[in-house]
Amino acid sequence: MSVAAERLQLPFDRPNVLDLAPLYEVLRREAPVTPVTTPAGDPAWLVTRYDEVRELLGDKRLGRSHPEPERASRITTAAVQDGPTGTYESEEADHKRMRRLLTPAFSAKRMRMLSQHVQDLVDGYVDQLIAERESSDVVDLHTGLAFPLPVAVICQLLGVPESDRELFHALSERMASPSEGGEAHRAREEFSRYMAGLAESKRGQLGEDVISDLVRAQSADEGFDYAEMVRLCVGLLFAGHETTVNRIGLGVLFLMTRPEHWTALTADPDGRVDATVEEIMRLGAPGDLGLLRYAHTDVEVGGTTIRTGDAVILSVNSANRDESAYADAETFDPDRAERTHLGFGHGAHFCIGASLARTELRIVFATLARRLPGLRLAKDADELPVRPTITGGVSELPVTW
Ligand code: HEM
Repeated sequence: MSVAAERLQLPFDRPNVLDLAPLYEVLRREAPVTPVTTPAGDPAWLVTRYDEVRELLGDKRLGRSHPEPERASRITTAAVQDGPTGTYESEEADHKRMRRLLTPAFSAKRMRMLSQHVQDLVDGYVDQLIAERESSDVVDLHTGLAFPLPVAVICQLLGVPESDRELFHALSERMASPSEGGEAHRAREEFSRYMAGLAESKRGQLGEDVISDLVRAQSADEGFDYAEMVRLCVGLLFAGHETTVNRIGLGVLFLMTRPEHWTALTADPDGRVDATVEEIMRLGAPGDLGLLRYAHTDVEVGGTTIRTGDAVILSVNSANRDESAYADAETFDPDRAERTHLGFGHGAHFCIGASLARTELRIVFATLARRLPGLRLAKDADELPVRPTITGGVSELPVTW
Protein backbone atom coordinates (compact mmCIF):
# COMPACT_ATOMS: atom_id res chain seq x y z
CA MET A 1 0.00 0.00 0.00
CA SER A 2 1.41 3.37 -0.90
CA VAL A 3 -0.18 6.37 0.70
CA ALA A 4 2.49 8.99 0.27
CA ALA A 5 1.15 10.31 -3.01
CA GLU A 6 -2.57 10.46 -2.13
CA ARG A 7 -4.53 12.89 -0.04
CA LEU A 8 -6.37 10.76 2.50
CA GLN A 9 -10.01 11.43 3.34
CA LEU A 10 -10.90 11.61 7.06
CA PRO A 11 -12.45 10.03 8.98
CA PHE A 12 -10.97 6.78 7.86
CA ASP A 13 -13.60 4.19 7.27
CA ARG A 14 -12.94 2.27 10.48
CA PRO A 15 -15.29 1.97 13.42
CA ASN A 16 -12.74 1.64 16.22
CA VAL A 17 -9.56 3.55 17.09
CA LEU A 18 -7.76 0.26 17.61
CA ASP A 19 -8.50 -0.82 14.02
CA LEU A 20 -6.51 2.10 12.64
CA ALA A 21 -3.20 0.62 13.76
CA PRO A 22 -2.27 -0.97 10.37
CA LEU A 23 -2.90 2.28 8.48
CA TYR A 24 -0.89 4.31 10.98
CA GLU A 25 1.95 1.87 10.64
CA VAL A 26 2.15 2.55 6.89
CA LEU A 27 1.81 6.30 7.38
CA ARG A 28 4.62 6.45 9.95
CA ARG A 29 6.91 4.62 7.55
CA GLU A 30 5.94 6.30 4.28
CA ALA A 31 4.39 9.67 5.06
CA PRO A 32 4.76 10.78 8.70
CA VAL A 33 3.50 14.29 7.82
CA THR A 34 0.77 13.65 5.29
CA PRO A 35 -1.88 15.85 3.63
CA VAL A 36 -5.46 14.81 4.44
CA THR A 37 -8.99 16.07 3.80
CA THR A 38 -11.15 16.47 6.89
CA PRO A 39 -14.75 15.21 7.14
CA ALA A 40 -15.88 18.76 6.36
CA GLY A 41 -13.77 18.83 3.21
CA ASP A 42 -10.98 21.07 4.50
CA PRO A 43 -7.30 20.32 3.91
CA ALA A 44 -5.08 19.49 6.89
CA TRP A 45 -1.86 17.71 7.80
CA LEU A 46 -1.86 14.44 9.70
CA VAL A 47 1.27 13.77 11.79
CA THR A 48 1.82 10.19 12.95
CA ARG A 49 5.36 9.68 14.31
CA TYR A 50 6.18 9.98 18.03
CA ASP A 51 9.08 12.43 17.60
CA GLU A 52 7.20 14.85 15.35
CA VAL A 53 3.94 14.66 17.35
CA ARG A 54 5.81 15.41 20.59
CA GLU A 55 7.86 18.16 18.97
CA LEU A 56 4.78 19.90 17.54
CA LEU A 57 2.75 19.57 20.77
CA GLY A 58 5.59 21.43 22.48
CA ASP A 59 5.97 24.04 19.72
CA LYS A 60 4.55 27.46 20.63
CA ARG A 61 4.27 28.38 16.95
CA LEU A 62 1.20 26.13 16.79
CA GLY A 63 -1.98 27.02 18.69
CA ARG A 64 -5.47 25.71 19.26
CA SER A 65 -7.15 28.63 17.52
CA HIS A 66 -6.74 29.71 13.91
CA PRO A 67 -4.65 32.85 13.32
CA GLU A 68 -7.67 34.10 11.32
CA PRO A 69 -10.64 32.54 13.22
CA GLU A 70 -13.09 32.87 10.32
CA ARG A 71 -10.89 30.55 8.24
CA ALA A 72 -10.75 27.81 10.90
CA SER A 73 -11.62 24.39 9.52
CA ARG A 74 -14.50 22.43 10.98
CA ILE A 75 -12.46 19.51 12.21
CA THR A 76 -13.55 17.80 15.37
CA THR A 77 -10.70 16.81 17.61
CA ALA A 78 -10.26 13.76 19.74
CA ALA A 79 -9.92 15.25 23.21
CA VAL A 80 -12.76 17.73 22.71
CA GLN A 81 -12.25 20.73 24.89
CA ASP A 82 -14.44 23.75 25.06
CA GLY A 83 -11.45 25.83 24.19
CA PRO A 84 -11.36 29.53 23.45
CA THR A 85 -11.85 30.44 19.81
CA GLY A 86 -10.49 33.97 19.56
CA THR A 87 -7.28 35.17 17.98
CA TYR A 88 -3.98 33.61 18.93
CA GLU A 89 -3.11 36.30 21.49
CA SER A 90 -6.47 36.05 23.25
CA GLU A 91 -6.28 32.26 23.08
CA GLU A 92 -2.97 32.41 24.96
CA ALA A 93 -4.29 34.82 27.55
CA ASP A 94 -7.55 32.88 28.03
CA HIS A 95 -5.64 29.66 28.27
CA LYS A 96 -3.24 30.99 30.94
CA ARG A 97 -6.24 32.27 32.90
CA MET A 98 -8.04 28.92 32.61
CA ARG A 99 -4.96 27.03 33.89
CA ARG A 100 -4.48 29.52 36.72
CA LEU A 101 -8.12 29.30 37.86
CA LEU A 102 -8.10 25.50 37.75
CA THR A 103 -4.68 24.90 39.32
CA PRO A 104 -5.92 24.68 42.98
CA ALA A 105 -8.44 21.97 41.97
CA PHE A 106 -5.66 19.56 41.06
CA SER A 107 -3.23 20.21 43.93
CA ALA A 108 -1.69 17.25 45.78
CA LYS A 109 -3.91 17.99 48.79
CA ARG A 110 -7.10 17.90 46.72
CA MET A 111 -5.98 14.71 45.00
CA ARG A 112 -5.45 13.04 48.39
CA MET A 113 -8.94 14.11 49.47
CA LEU A 114 -10.48 12.91 46.21
CA SER A 115 -8.66 9.61 46.20
CA GLN A 116 -10.52 8.35 49.31
CA HIS A 117 -13.78 9.40 47.70
CA VAL A 118 -12.87 7.54 44.47
CA GLN A 119 -12.08 4.40 46.49
CA ASP A 120 -15.45 4.61 48.29
CA LEU A 121 -17.29 5.08 44.99
CA VAL A 122 -15.50 2.16 43.30
CA ASP A 123 -16.16 -0.11 46.28
CA GLY A 124 -19.83 0.88 46.17
CA TYR A 125 -20.11 0.06 42.44
CA VAL A 126 -18.33 -3.27 42.94
CA ASP A 127 -20.66 -4.14 45.88
CA GLN A 128 -23.59 -3.43 43.58
CA LEU A 129 -22.16 -5.59 40.77
CA ILE A 130 -21.56 -8.45 43.22
CA ALA A 131 -25.18 -8.16 44.41
CA GLU A 132 -26.46 -8.17 40.80
CA ARG A 133 -24.33 -11.18 39.96
CA GLU A 134 -26.22 -13.23 42.55
CA SER A 135 -29.34 -13.17 40.39
CA SER A 136 -27.77 -12.89 36.91
CA ASP A 137 -25.00 -14.82 35.13
CA VAL A 138 -23.70 -11.71 33.42
CA VAL A 139 -23.38 -8.11 34.64
CA ASP A 140 -22.41 -4.98 32.72
CA LEU A 141 -19.23 -3.28 33.91
CA HIS A 142 -19.86 -0.33 31.58
CA THR A 143 -23.19 0.79 33.07
CA GLY A 144 -22.27 -0.49 36.54
CA LEU A 145 -18.85 1.18 36.90
CA ALA A 146 -17.03 2.65 33.88
CA PHE A 147 -19.77 5.10 32.90
CA PRO A 148 -21.00 6.45 36.26
CA LEU A 149 -17.64 6.74 38.04
CA PRO A 150 -15.96 9.64 36.16
CA VAL A 151 -19.00 11.93 36.33
CA ALA A 152 -19.47 11.17 40.05
CA VAL A 153 -15.82 12.14 40.58
CA ILE A 154 -16.26 15.36 38.59
CA CYS A 155 -19.28 16.20 40.81
CA GLN A 156 -17.03 15.87 43.86
CA LEU A 157 -14.28 17.92 42.18
CA LEU A 158 -16.73 20.71 41.33
CA GLY A 159 -18.52 20.63 44.70
CA VAL A 160 -21.96 19.46 43.53
CA PRO A 161 -23.84 18.26 46.64
CA GLU A 162 -24.86 14.58 46.88
CA SER A 163 -28.55 15.51 46.72
CA ASP A 164 -28.14 17.16 43.26
CA ARG A 165 -26.08 14.43 41.63
CA GLU A 166 -28.90 12.80 39.70
CA LEU A 167 -29.99 16.15 38.34
CA PHE A 168 -26.38 16.92 37.40
CA HIS A 169 -25.98 13.56 35.60
CA ALA A 170 -29.20 14.07 33.67
CA LEU A 171 -28.22 17.60 32.60
CA SER A 172 -24.74 16.56 31.52
CA GLU A 173 -26.10 13.67 29.46
CA ARG A 174 -28.61 15.95 27.78
CA MET A 175 -25.88 18.52 27.03
CA ALA A 176 -23.68 15.88 25.41
CA SER A 177 -26.45 14.20 23.40
CA PRO A 178 -26.48 14.99 19.68
CA SER A 179 -30.29 15.32 19.71
CA GLU A 180 -32.54 17.38 17.46
CA GLY A 181 -34.50 20.52 18.32
CA GLY A 182 -31.99 22.46 20.40
CA GLU A 183 -32.18 19.99 23.30
CA ALA A 184 -28.45 20.28 24.04
CA HIS A 185 -28.76 24.06 23.98
CA ARG A 186 -31.73 24.05 26.41
CA ALA A 187 -29.87 21.65 28.69
CA ARG A 188 -26.88 23.98 28.68
CA GLU A 189 -29.09 26.90 29.69
CA GLU A 190 -30.58 24.86 32.54
CA PHE A 191 -27.08 23.79 33.52
CA SER A 192 -25.95 27.44 33.58
CA ARG A 193 -28.85 28.42 35.83
CA TYR A 194 -28.14 25.49 38.11
CA MET A 195 -24.43 26.32 38.38
CA ALA A 196 -25.08 30.01 39.02
CA GLY A 197 -27.50 29.05 41.84
CA LEU A 198 -24.98 26.64 43.29
CA ALA A 199 -22.21 29.26 43.25
CA GLU A 200 -24.55 31.71 44.98
CA SER A 201 -25.43 29.18 47.68
CA LYS A 202 -21.75 28.47 48.36
CA ARG A 203 -20.80 32.09 48.98
CA GLY A 204 -21.41 31.81 52.71
CA GLN A 205 -19.40 28.61 53.18
CA LEU A 206 -16.68 28.13 50.62
CA GLY A 207 -15.06 24.69 50.53
CA GLU A 208 -12.31 22.71 48.82
CA ASP A 209 -13.92 22.46 45.39
CA VAL A 210 -13.76 24.11 41.95
CA ILE A 211 -16.90 26.20 42.34
CA SER A 212 -15.62 27.60 45.65
CA ASP A 213 -12.23 28.26 44.00
CA LEU A 214 -13.96 30.20 41.25
CA VAL A 215 -16.12 32.19 43.68
CA ARG A 216 -12.93 33.07 45.62
CA ALA A 217 -11.24 34.14 42.38
CA GLN A 218 -14.28 36.24 41.52
CA SER A 219 -13.97 38.16 44.77
CA ALA A 220 -10.24 38.72 44.18
CA ASP A 221 -10.46 39.43 40.49
CA GLU A 222 -12.82 41.82 38.71
CA GLY A 223 -12.76 39.85 35.48
CA PHE A 224 -14.69 36.82 36.67
CA ASP A 225 -18.25 36.11 35.60
CA TYR A 226 -20.82 33.31 35.73
CA ALA A 227 -20.54 32.58 32.02
CA GLU A 228 -16.85 31.86 32.51
CA MET A 229 -17.59 29.62 35.47
CA VAL A 230 -20.09 27.63 33.44
CA ARG A 231 -17.65 27.39 30.52
CA LEU A 232 -14.89 26.06 32.79
CA CYS A 233 -17.18 23.52 34.49
CA VAL A 234 -18.62 22.29 31.18
CA GLY A 235 -15.04 22.12 29.85
CA LEU A 236 -14.01 19.89 32.78
CA LEU A 237 -17.03 17.69 32.27
CA PHE A 238 -16.39 17.22 28.56
CA ALA A 239 -12.64 16.80 28.94
CA GLY A 240 -12.80 14.46 31.92
CA HIS A 241 -15.85 12.26 31.42
CA GLU A 242 -15.81 10.34 28.12
CA THR A 243 -12.02 10.17 28.12
CA THR A 244 -11.97 8.37 31.47
CA VAL A 245 -15.01 6.16 30.73
CA ASN A 246 -13.30 4.95 27.57
CA ARG A 247 -9.91 4.32 29.20
CA ILE A 248 -11.61 2.14 31.85
CA GLY A 249 -13.43 0.21 29.11
CA LEU A 250 -10.35 -0.25 26.94
CA GLY A 251 -8.29 -1.23 29.99
CA VAL A 252 -10.77 -3.97 30.90
CA LEU A 253 -10.68 -5.20 27.30
CA PHE A 254 -6.87 -5.21 27.17
CA LEU A 255 -6.62 -7.15 30.42
CA MET A 256 -9.45 -9.62 29.78
CA THR A 257 -8.07 -10.52 26.36
CA ARG A 258 -4.54 -10.97 27.78
CA PRO A 259 -5.15 -13.17 30.83
CA GLU A 260 -1.45 -13.42 31.72
CA HIS A 261 -1.38 -9.69 32.54
CA TRP A 262 -4.64 -9.91 34.47
CA THR A 263 -3.30 -12.85 36.50
CA ALA A 264 -0.10 -10.93 37.23
CA LEU A 265 -2.13 -7.91 38.37
CA THR A 266 -4.36 -9.99 40.66
CA ALA A 267 -1.23 -11.49 42.26
CA ASP A 268 0.21 -8.06 43.10
CA PRO A 269 -2.35 -5.27 42.55
CA ASP A 270 -0.44 -2.53 44.39
CA GLY A 271 2.90 -3.42 42.86
CA ARG A 272 1.68 -3.67 39.26
CA VAL A 273 -1.18 -1.25 38.90
CA ASP A 274 0.84 1.90 38.02
CA ALA A 275 2.64 0.22 35.13
CA THR A 276 -0.60 -1.41 33.95
CA VAL A 277 -2.39 1.95 33.85
CA GLU A 278 0.45 3.62 31.93
CA GLU A 279 0.32 0.83 29.35
CA ILE A 280 -3.46 1.23 29.04
CA MET A 281 -2.88 4.96 28.49
CA ARG A 282 -0.25 4.24 25.84
CA LEU A 283 -2.05 1.66 23.70
CA GLY A 284 -5.55 2.98 24.39
CA ALA A 285 -4.64 6.59 23.61
CA PRO A 286 -7.60 8.72 22.63
CA GLY A 287 -8.55 9.79 19.23
CA ASP A 288 -8.92 8.26 15.80
CA LEU A 289 -8.06 11.67 14.42
CA GLY A 290 -5.85 13.35 17.00
CA LEU A 291 -5.23 16.71 18.64
CA LEU A 292 -5.90 19.73 16.46
CA ARG A 293 -3.57 22.68 16.10
CA TYR A 294 -3.10 25.56 13.63
CA ALA A 295 0.24 26.91 12.46
CA HIS A 296 0.70 30.56 13.45
CA THR A 297 3.73 30.92 11.24
CA ASP A 298 5.42 28.65 8.67
CA VAL A 299 6.80 25.60 10.47
CA GLU A 300 9.19 23.04 9.01
CA VAL A 301 8.77 19.50 10.29
CA GLY A 302 10.34 16.29 9.01
CA GLY A 303 11.26 18.00 5.70
CA THR A 304 7.71 19.32 5.11
CA THR A 305 6.73 22.98 5.41
CA ILE A 306 3.44 23.60 7.19
CA ARG A 307 2.18 27.03 6.13
CA THR A 308 0.66 29.72 8.35
CA GLY A 309 -3.03 28.91 8.99
CA ASP A 310 -2.73 25.22 8.04
CA ALA A 311 -4.61 22.79 10.30
CA VAL A 312 -2.45 20.06 11.82
CA ILE A 313 -3.83 16.86 13.36
CA LEU A 314 -1.37 15.29 15.79
CA SER A 315 -2.17 11.62 16.17
CA VAL A 316 -1.34 10.67 19.74
CA ASN A 317 -2.78 7.24 19.06
CA SER A 318 -0.27 6.63 16.29
CA ALA A 319 2.65 8.26 18.16
CA ASN A 320 2.07 5.95 21.11
CA ARG A 321 2.45 2.88 18.89
CA ASP A 322 5.49 4.10 16.96
CA GLU A 323 8.01 1.27 16.69
CA SER A 324 10.91 3.73 16.68
CA ALA A 325 9.87 4.85 20.20
CA TYR A 326 8.69 1.51 21.66
CA ALA A 327 10.06 -1.99 21.25
CA ASP A 328 7.33 -4.33 20.02
CA ALA A 329 4.99 -1.36 20.02
CA GLU A 330 1.69 -3.16 19.29
CA THR A 331 2.15 -5.52 22.22
CA PHE A 332 0.38 -4.67 25.48
CA ASP A 333 3.23 -5.01 27.95
CA PRO A 334 3.13 -3.28 31.34
CA ASP A 335 6.72 -4.45 31.92
CA ARG A 336 8.16 -2.52 28.99
CA ALA A 337 11.17 -0.33 29.68
CA GLU A 338 9.73 2.79 28.00
CA ARG A 339 7.22 4.41 30.33
CA THR A 340 6.58 7.75 28.66
CA HIS A 341 3.61 8.23 26.31
CA LEU A 342 1.56 11.07 24.89
CA GLY A 343 -1.82 9.81 26.13
CA PHE A 344 -2.32 12.98 28.20
CA GLY A 345 -0.82 15.23 25.52
CA HIS A 346 2.36 17.26 25.98
CA GLY A 347 3.41 20.89 26.29
CA ALA A 348 1.23 23.87 27.18
CA HIS A 349 -2.07 21.94 26.99
CA PHE A 350 -0.88 18.83 28.85
CA CYS A 351 -3.95 17.31 30.53
CA ILE A 352 -4.61 19.26 33.71
CA GLY A 353 -6.65 16.30 35.02
CA ALA A 354 -3.92 13.69 34.43
CA SER A 355 -3.28 13.09 38.14
CA LEU A 356 -7.00 12.68 38.79
CA ALA A 357 -7.46 10.36 35.80
CA ARG A 358 -4.48 8.26 36.93
CA THR A 359 -5.92 8.07 40.45
CA GLU A 360 -9.27 6.85 39.10
CA LEU A 361 -7.72 4.27 36.78
CA ARG A 362 -5.34 2.94 39.44
CA ILE A 363 -8.13 2.55 41.99
CA VAL A 364 -10.46 0.91 39.46
CA PHE A 365 -7.94 -1.68 38.27
CA ALA A 366 -6.42 -2.43 41.69
CA THR A 367 -9.89 -2.84 43.23
CA LEU A 368 -11.15 -5.08 40.43
CA ALA A 369 -8.00 -7.21 40.67
CA ARG A 370 -8.35 -7.53 44.44
CA ARG A 371 -12.10 -8.07 44.71
CA LEU A 372 -12.97 -9.83 41.43
CA PRO A 373 -9.84 -11.81 40.49
CA GLY A 374 -11.93 -14.33 38.49
CA LEU A 375 -13.27 -11.57 36.20
CA ARG A 376 -13.70 -12.46 32.50
CA LEU A 377 -15.61 -11.19 29.47
CA ALA A 378 -18.96 -12.85 28.88
CA LYS A 379 -18.89 -12.04 25.16
CA ASP A 380 -16.24 -12.17 22.46
CA ALA A 381 -14.31 -8.85 22.54
CA ASP A 382 -14.88 -8.38 18.77
CA GLU A 383 -18.64 -8.49 19.26
CA LEU A 384 -18.80 -5.63 21.74
CA PRO A 385 -20.53 -2.50 20.42
CA VAL A 386 -18.24 0.47 19.93
CA ARG A 387 -19.36 3.75 21.52
CA PRO A 388 -20.44 6.41 19.05
CA THR A 389 -17.90 8.89 20.45
CA ILE A 390 -14.67 10.07 18.99
CA THR A 391 -12.54 9.18 21.98
CA GLY A 392 -12.85 5.42 21.41
CA GLY A 393 -14.26 2.75 23.69
CA VAL A 394 -17.08 0.26 24.08
CA SER A 395 -20.70 0.85 25.12
CA GLU A 396 -21.17 -2.51 26.83
CA LEU A 397 -18.84 -4.62 28.96
CA PRO A 398 -20.66 -7.85 29.79
CA VAL A 399 -18.59 -9.72 32.37
CA THR A 400 -18.85 -12.63 34.72
CA TRP A 401 -16.65 -14.36 37.32
C1 HEM B 1 -6.33 18.17 28.14
C2 HEM B 1 -6.46 13.33 27.71
C3 HEM B 1 -8.90 13.04 31.91
C4 HEM B 1 -9.26 17.86 32.02
C5 HEM B 1 -6.11 16.88 27.69
C6 HEM B 1 -5.31 16.52 26.54
C7 HEM B 1 -5.36 15.17 26.41
C8 HEM B 1 -6.18 14.67 27.49
C9 HEM B 1 -4.69 14.32 25.34
C10 HEM B 1 -4.52 17.50 25.65
C11 HEM B 1 -5.42 18.17 24.65
C12 HEM B 1 -4.66 19.03 23.66
O1 HEM B 1 -3.43 19.10 23.70
O2 HEM B 1 -5.32 19.63 22.78
C13 HEM B 1 -7.17 12.85 28.81
C14 HEM B 1 -7.42 11.45 29.05
C15 HEM B 1 -8.10 11.36 30.24
C16 HEM B 1 -8.28 12.72 30.73
C17 HEM B 1 -6.99 10.30 28.16
C18 HEM B 1 -8.61 10.15 30.96
C19 HEM B 1 -7.94 9.02 31.06
C20 HEM B 1 -9.17 14.32 32.33
C21 HEM B 1 -9.87 14.66 33.57
C22 HEM B 1 -9.99 16.03 33.57
C23 HEM B 1 -9.35 16.53 32.37
C24 HEM B 1 -10.38 13.65 34.59
C25 HEM B 1 -10.63 16.91 34.60
C26 HEM B 1 -11.68 16.59 35.33
C27 HEM B 1 -8.53 18.34 30.95
C28 HEM B 1 -8.45 19.76 30.61
C29 HEM B 1 -7.60 19.84 29.48
C30 HEM B 1 -7.19 18.49 29.16
C31 HEM B 1 -9.16 20.90 31.33
C32 HEM B 1 -7.19 21.11 28.74
C33 HEM B 1 -5.84 21.55 29.23
C34 HEM B 1 -5.30 22.73 28.49
O3 HEM B 1 -5.76 23.05 27.39
O4 HEM B 1 -4.37 23.37 29.02
N1 HEM B 1 -6.61 15.74 28.27
N2 HEM B 1 -7.71 13.59 29.82
N3 HEM B 1 -8.85 15.47 31.66
N4 HEM B 1 -7.77 17.62 30.06
FE1 HEM B 1 -7.63 15.61 30.02
